[in-house]
Amino acid sequence: MNNPLQIWQQRVEGTLQQVLPSESAAPTRLHQAMRYSIFNGGKRVRPALLYATGRMFGVEAEILDSAAAAIEIIHSYSLIHDDLPSMDDDDIRRGRATCHREFDEATAILAGDALQSLAFEVLVNANASLELRLDWIKLLSNASGSSGMVGGQQLDLAAEQVKVDSIELNNIHNLKTGALIKASILMGASAAESCKAEEHSKLTSFAEAIGLAFQVQDDILDIEGESSKIGKPQGSDLKKGKSTFVSLYGMDGAKAELHKLQQQALDSLTSFDQRSVELNAIIDFITKRDH
Ligand code: IPE
Ligand code: IPE
Ligand code: MG
Ligand code: MG
Ligand code: MG
Repeated sequence: MNNPLQIWQQRVEGTLQQVLPSESAAPTRLHQAMRYSIFNGGKRVRPALLYATGRMFGVEAEILDSAAAAIEIIHSYSLIHDDLPSMDDDDIRRGRATCHREFDEATAILAGDALQSLAFEVLVNANASLELRLDWIKLLSNASGSSGMVGGQQLDLAAEQVKVDSIELNNIHNLKTGALIKASILMGASAAESCKAEEHSKLTSFAEAIGLAFQVQDDILDIEGESSKIGKPQGSDLKKGKSTFVSLYGMDGAKAELHKLQQQALDSLTSFDQRSVELNAIIDFITKRDH
């Protein structure tokens, strides 16, 4: 499958290399764990969404480098903590031992903490106006905190071995995964001075649909994916009794929801015409991905 993320993957890799502390800097074990968890083959979907959204409005990639790196750093921290024994208790991530398995639990907790701080430091030092940096910090802190990703993770844990209804499940998925995906798109848009209110609202609808779709496909891959491709243990959700789109709607129902969300995402972008070609390709990638 043609990979529309590739150019952005390479680009954000360069920024991440620059901003992550060197492994030889003290405390070396912590810095090794941070680098181990960042440079391990992540798809970099969130940076790609951020860059592609900015590009729709002609924003130069240079302006977006720090924001793209910051969102990936927050995402990588969320994965380290998500895998901890007290959370999903998983041993494999991105095809390698999870951070707490490769290092130890305390180091994994601290590496996540330090990555979170680093993300905001990167935004503070970004090559952008003070107003834009503040805007990014606001978007990213809201999306990653207790009314965003972390809040969703709390609700996800509370929904283990419990039957939740569709409203509760949508809320969990929108928070734990949708919030950061939405922030990626809105951070790209906030760098675009030419983005009109009406366009912003279309992008918001797109972001909400693709954010939820991303987690629905993740739930599907937990059942239908191959561990060697998804780079994490297949069947982890089943083992933990997680509330997922597949557990609530069955596999066919989950796929129907995914299709509906994909269509909603595409429909939200129609008025952008040719300008949305790249985002359309990313929607296709996200909803058909096997990893
Ligand atoms: C996995 O995210 C966790 C979810 C939020 C569903 P990704 O599928 O983007 O993971 P990487 O970054 O490519 O490893
Ligand atoms: C993760 O959801 C959401 C995060 C905020 C990390 P999952 O627990 O389903 O992600 P995977 O399947 O472990 O990547
Ligand atoms: Mg989880
Ligand atoms: Mg998990
Ligand atoms: Mg999952």
